[in-house]
Amino acid sequence: MIKTIIYIVLIGTILALIAGGTHLWRVNQRNKKEMAPYAGDPITLKNTFGKTLVIYYSLSGHTKQIAEIIQDKTNADIYEIKTVDKIDTTPWFALTVRSQNKSGQYPAIIDTMPDLSQYDTIFFGAPVWWYTLATPAKTFLTKFDFQNKRVAPFSTQGSNYGSYFTDFNHMAKNAQLLPSASFNNLGSEYDAAVANKITVWLNSFPAYKK
Ligand SMILES: Cc1cc2nc3c(=O)[nH]c(=O)nc-3n(C[C@H](O)[C@H](O)[C@H](O)COP(=O)(O)O)c2cc1C
Repeated sequence: MIKTIIYIVLIGTILALIAGGTHLWRVNQRNKKEMAPYAGDPITLKNTFGKTLVIYYSLSGHTKQIAEIIQDKTNADIYEIKTVDKIDTTPWFALTVRSQNKSGQYPAIIDTMPDLSQYDTIFFGAPVWWYTLATPAKTFLTKFDFQNKRVAPFSTQGSNYGSYFTDFNHMAKNAQLLPSASFNNLGSEYDAAVANKITVWLNSFPAYKK
């Protein structure tokens, strides 16, 4: 009996390792293919955006990194969404997020909302959690009105952004939507290509006219 259980656990572990390895390999191949067009010399930013604000939420730094590149390229101000309580990434954190999404009860955030009146273009970025926006970003959107400003959403994720952008479009009150962009977590060997991908995205916006 014990032998059978050990065999089952062993086979289960091997199958899980094979499935995990295959998934990682596939994601790697897809990243290589997706980023290939952005390799090479730096691409020039040709667009203008008026006065610009980057709003972002980031738990472990990936979204912050992308937000800061956008800030740098567009000479923007930046606003970080912060939770009232520090988020601990315990093993059951993913389950907590899942139940927040089910109940619609998102974590409390620090309530100093940015004043949009002076801005012409706004970027909004967050990590993907369970195929949708990270719940602190959802809290922000439930409290915020984009006041008919031009808004460009972006995401960061492992490999699958799911319904992030459709959910954003539903939640972003009065946003005039600009093209969106999603960024997979990549190693530093892709830094130059990521910068180019951001420039290509920024160049795709309709020109800003005062
Ligand atoms: C609770 C949780 C759920 C996640 N769900 C997804 C997902 O559905 N799809 C995905 O590709 N990545 C998922 N990820 C990975 C994050 O989206 C990714 O690492 C992101 O870049 C983290 O951003 P940050 O460093 O700014 O917090 C998840 C991460 C966490 C913590």
